[in-house]
Amino acid sequence: MTTDDVPTCLALWASTPGIGLSASDDPRELERFLARNRGLCFVAIGDQGEEPDAVVDRPGAVVATVLCGYDGRRAYVYHLAVERAWRRMGLARAIIDRLRSALADVGVFRVHAMVLSNNSDGRKAWRALGWTFREDLTIYSHTLESE
Ligand SMILES: CC(C)(COP(=O)(O)OP(=O)(O)OC[C@H]1O[C@@H](n2cnc3c(N)ncnc32)[C@H](O)[C@@H]1OP(=O)(O)O)[C@@H](O)C(=O)NCCC(=O)NCCS
Repeated sequence: MTTDDVPTCLALWASTPGIGLSASDDPRELERFLARNRGLCFVAIGDQGEEPDAVVDRPGAVVATVLCGYDGRRAYVYHLAVERAWRRMGLARAIIDRLRSALADVGVFRVHAMVLSNNSDGRKAWRALGWTFREDLTIYSHTLESE
């Protein structure tokens, strides 16, 4: 994923139930995230030659995304999303495999996925991908006031 992909990714996420958008999805924040996590965020580009007619309205469209950030201790995955018409074809598995390979290349071996609790389909997919649901963890969040 590059900064050029940000508008299309935002459009995909905004139209995808299960993806929660926040202030961190401001384009400038996303560009900062991409710069900080080079090589850990991916898009899949639809190729009209490979898939059923009219799956995407133009060749070269972003049809799947994943963001990943490494904080020096753990990596965190956000916004795994596949365009509806491209689901259940193995794209999520493929993009996560690509991410796992990128993480291994930079020596990161522990990664968590941030998933909205009420996203039952998303939770099923993560389980099917072989990721472990953590019953022992809860997230607490805090917002710092900007100056
Ligand atoms: C969840 C999502 C990313 C899955 O993408 P996908 O490309 O259809 O997934 P894949 O085809 O690679 O499937 C990967 C595995 O998950 C399973 N899976 C995918 N969607 C599923 C669903 N809705 N219910 C149950 N299992 C599902 C598949 O069966 C497959 O397992 P298998 O290989 O054992 O059969 C996609 O449905 C999506 O974008 N959903 C909306 C956004 C979202 O919820 N993202 C996840 C939380 S951040």
